[in-house]
Amino acid sequence: MPASGPRPDVLVVGGGLIGLLIARELIRGGARVEVVDDRRAGAASPNAAGMIAPIAESSTDAAFARMAITSRDLWARLAPALERESGISIDYDDTGSILPVLDEPGRKVLAGIRQQATDLGEPTAELGRTELLRLVPDLRPGIEAGLLLPGEHRVDNRLAAAAAAAALERQGVTLHRATVERVTEESAGVSAAGAGFARDAGAVVICGGAWTPAIQGLPTLPIRPVKGQMIAFDRIDWAFTGAIRTPSFYAVRRAGNRLLIGASVEHTGFDLSLTDDVGNGLASAAADLLPALRDRQPVEHWAGLRPGTPDGWPLVGQLSERLHIAAGHFRNGILLAPLTARMIAPMVLGRPAAPVVPVPAAMRPRRFGPCTR
Ligand code: GLY
Repeated sequence: MPASGPRPDVLVVGGGLIGLLIARELIRGGARVEVVDDRRAGAASPNAAGMIAPIAESSTDAAFARMAITSRDLWARLAPALERESGISIDYDDTGSILPVLDEPGRKVLAGIRQQATDLGEPTAELGRTELLRLVPDLRPGIEAGLLLPGEHRVDNRLAAAAAAAALERQGVTLHRATVERVTEESAGVSAAGAGFARDAGAVVICGGAWTPAIQGLPTLPIRPVKGQMIAFDRIDWAFTGAIRTPSFYAVRRAGNRLLIGASVEHTGFDLSLTDDVGNGLASAAADLLPALRDRQPVEHWAGLRPGTPDGWPLVGQLSERLHIAAGHFRNGILLAPLTARMIAPMVLGRPAAPVVPVPAAMRPRRFGPCTR
């Protein structure tokens, strides 16, 4: 059934955190916006870890890290604004990430990471065992040092997405529940349609995560699902409320004494099955560093699908006159969401809204060659 009411200036297809923040940014720029989302199982936003970690979690590419740092800075201002606009607390934490020194080769790797952070103007600190134990009393014996990256943040991504949606609804934005199966660009706008849904808009922004290439009417886009399984433990009562990163896993705190452990990287298509080997592997890697976990059962085990691209950079920008895309953020969707919104809004609006952040060539959606569909 066609949605009713005057057509929006922009329809955002995909109501994950990226789509919601783009909608927010467009509204701030004066546009009338609607969002359509199908609450797909395995969508990345609700299943991510919520790390806002430009050094520890993003790539070693300095250009990418600079983007990530800019987005982290946007997050620090966005978090209180989202809470104010929605009335929902999003468990935003700016304590930092700890990278423990596990062995001699690891010490060298961490020295390199420390240098990279310093080169990017990011603060670092070395922690000795006493300080490490004060922060993370469950650390195993033998861990004598660690690198603290105090500029790294984290957020409860589920709460952040709920807050972004609630803030939009408070402003009267319509959030449709439907799957968009095709988009058709016409001379004066774009129509989006799927089972039981049809809507015309002045422009469309596609934020469909791993499912983006399934939308008919788009050029061929090399976005593929990359599954990540995670587990969570409860009863964590450390003073440290940030994230811990090792070469084999990350551990991210949540309010309410929870600790998330992630994540696998599996190229198994649209598969959300939970496997004991991965769940047990994560639990055992975590217990190796944090022996108190050895006797506990995870309270949750889940999987999400990251939207991967061949070069690890997202696709952000214009596909045609009225059709835009922000997808393919792979491991860094939560981190890069505010920056993506800031980048794409002026392109869609056709005028600067907030200070413009130009889209780097590395994110251009057509960089993989001619689009054929
Ligand atoms: N950013 C965390 C992950 O993709 O596993």
